[in-house]
Amino acid sequence: MLTDALPPNSRPAELARARGILAQGGIVAVPTETVYGLAADATHDRAVAAIFTAKGRPSFNPLIIHVDGVAMADTYGVLSPLAFALAEAFWPGPLSLVVPVRKGSGLAAAVTAGLPTVAVRHPKGLMADLVAMLNRPLAAPSANRSGRISPTTAAHVARDLGDAVDLILDDGPASVGLESTIVAPQDDGRIQILREGAITAAMLAPFGPVEGRFAPTHVENNASPTSPGQLLAHYAPSVPLRMAVQEPMDGEGWLTFGPHKTPSADTKIVTYHLSPTGDLEEAARRLYAGLQVLDTSGVQSIGVAPIPDAGIGRAINDRLRRAAHGSTVSTGQTTPYD
Ligand code: TXA
Ligand code: MG
Repeated sequence: MLTDALPPNSRPAELARARGILAQGGIVAVPTETVYGLAADATHDRAVAAIFTAKGRPSFNPLIIHVDGVAMADTYGVLSPLAFALAEAFWPGPLSLVVPVRKGSGLAAAVTAGLPTVAVRHPKGLMADLVAMLNRPLAAPSANRSGRISPTTAAHVARDLGDAVDLILDDGPASVGLESTIVAPQDDGRIQILREGAITAAMLAPFGPVEGRFAPTHVENNASPTSPGQLLAHYAPSVPLRMAVQEPMDGEGWLTFGPHKTPSADTKIVTYHLSPTGDLEEAARRLYAGLQVLDTSGVQSIGVAPIPDAGIGRAINDRLRRAAHGSTVSTGQTTPYD
C-alpha cells in the first residue's frame, strides 16, 4: 500500500500517482464518505473490465459512476427536474440517482450491464477530487471481493483485495460507513428507493412520494435484475449471523448497541460495541469494522443486539439482514453479490 510508504503530507503526490494510473486504464481503491470504492475510468472498456475481474463480480451487476457535480452527471445520464432537485439537495453526499443513460455519452458498456439506466453519485472526498482532476467519471463499486463486507478503511481494502489493485489511497475511516442510498426518480414524481442508506425516506419525502421495497425480498439468481441494488445476499461474514440477540451464546461474537450488561467473565464472548451511547450514526460508521473484527476473531457465530429501525438504523438493519442471509449461503454458487 503506497500510503504506508509516503510521508503524511504526501497527498498531492498520491493523487497525482492515482490520476496517472487511472488515466492509463488502471484501477485504484479510493475512499469516499460511504465506503472505499474500486475506481476506474468509466469510459475505458478495459479498465472497467478490470474492476469486475478484481472483485470477481458478475458482469450483469452494473456499477455506480462518480461525478464532480450535476453538469457531469447530466453529460452521462439524463437528469429530470426531480433528479436535479435531489442532486442539488444531497450532493456531494451519500445518494446515488438511477437515471436514463445519455446516448453517445461514451460510457463503457460494462458499466451499465446492458441496462438503459445508469447510477450516478457525486461523493465527498478524494474520489470527487480525482474525478475533477481527470474530468471524467469514475466507475466504482465498493472495494471488496464480491460477497464480502464493504471496506471502510484502507486496511480493509488491502486485506480483501491486496495485490489485485494498482494503488490504495488512504483517507482514514469512512465518515458514513454504509453504502449510498440508491433512488430511481420516476417521471410521475415518485422516488423509488432501491437501497437504503444515510439519506432516509424521511429526508427524501419533501421531494415527492417515496416508495421502495425496504425488506430484502428480492430473490437472487436473476440474470437480468431490474433493480440490482435489491439483491439479497451481500456483505457475508464467514460465520452465521443472528439478529436481535439479547443474550449471546458461549463462543459467539457479540455486536452490541447501547448500554448493556457485560457478559460474565467466565464466558468466552468477544464483544464489539457499535455505540455504547446508542448513537445510530456512530453504529453505522462502525458496523463493517465490527463485523470484520468479529469475523476474524475465531468466533463460531455473530450475534447482533437489537438496532432501532429508525433513521439510518433502517439501513443498518437492511445490511444485517443481508449479512444474515449471506452467511448461510455458499459463495461458490451463482448468487449475485456486490
Ligand atoms: O456508497 C456507495 O454507493 C459505494 C461507493 C464506492 O460509492 N458504491 C457501492 O457500489 O456501493 P456497489 O457496486 O457495491 O453497489 C452499487 C449497487 C449495486 O447493487 C448495483 O446493482 C446497483 O448499485 N446499481 C448500479 N447501477 C444500477 C442501475 N442502473 N439500476 C439499478 N441499480 C443499479
Ligand atoms: Mg458493494
